[in-house]
Amino acid sequence: MPAELTIFDPWHNRAGVRKDPRLVVDKDEIATKKFFPDHVVPHLCHPLVVARPPEERRYLAAQHLYQWLRFTERFEVEVVLRTVQGIADGVSGVELTKKMRRDAMKICVDEQFHALYSIDVADQIEELSGIPAVPFDFGPHLRHIDGVAEANPTYAKLVKLLQVIVFETLITSLLQDVPRDDDLIGVVRETVRDHAADEVYHHAYFAHVFKELWAQLDQPDKRAVGTFLPDVIVRSLKPATLSARLALAEVGFTPDQVRAIVAESYAPDPVMAGIRFAARRTIGMFRKCGVFEVAGSREAFVAAGFTDPGVGRVAALDTVDDIRAAIQGNAG
Ligand SMILES: [Fe+2]
Ligand SMILES: [Fe+2]
Repeated sequence: MPAELTIFDPWHNRAGVRKDPRLVVDKDEIATKKFFPDHVVPHLCHPLVVARPPEERRYLAAQHLYQWLRFTERFEVEVVLRTVQGIADGVSGVELTKKMRRDAMKICVDEQFHALYSIDVADQIEELSGIPAVPFDFGPHLRHIDGVAEANPTYAKLVKLLQVIVFETLITSLLQDVPRDDDLIGVVRETVRDHAADEVYHHAYFAHVFKELWAQLDQPDKRAVGTFLPDVIVRSLKPATLSARLALAEVGFTPDQVRAIVAESYAPDPVMAGIRFAARRTIGMFRKCGVFEVAGSREAFVAAGFTDPGVGRVAALDTVDDIRAAIQGNAG
């Protein structure tokens, strides 16, 4: 029997952790370039914040960058790694070949590296800019995303596997916008670009894992998954606003103003539109595997705010080249 080939065979030569140098902040750029694109920071676009002086807006953009990098670090460690190590150990709830489980170990190494450089870049920028980060607490967000497992204790392990499948197959606008934005500090663009370069392979891997998982579930389990899957997506993508609240208070907004800015900047409709955009390929993958042929799943997605996924047209992505094109914003 020929040896099983996977996209992780060339990992030792192409993974960021094996070939990329440390991401280092160019201190000359700190004063002249932007921390984050304004249009992806909802509260920076609020009229009360737009009216503030440039140095306060700059402070808020720096805080958004810190929170995004710290969120990435914590998410990799507390959500992705706990499950991917389980896949590697064969205890995640999906049966995979030994080769696929070894590939999961390579993904664990990738994710630990992503966590390391995310926090390393945050630390460097904090030190060079002299802008101290407001406190960050991942706990509330973790409890929020794990709420689906808590509400469905029989399926707790499955929910945690689906959290990772969903998160690893999302394509957010940030992945497309940040690397090509010349106004940004170079290391911020490089952080997103390098992370996305590895995630292309993770996306392809988890599309395969979902296909295997779905084929292994019995009909009652498929029905259960169809009903809680939209909640897994929405909770994974709902913006965490705690750091924004602290940062807005720090620049002098009153508690009432902070509440109003956050409520208006993160209103349910635009938040849901962002979630639909980021999840469109993931939903295409579910459609291709037959998730929406199971009774109740289309209705559950529509009730959660998705356009009827049974008739959606955005396709799943299978090949690494197609996924890369989509992440770079060169695909439909
Ligand atoms: Fe990652
Ligand atoms: Fe990943």
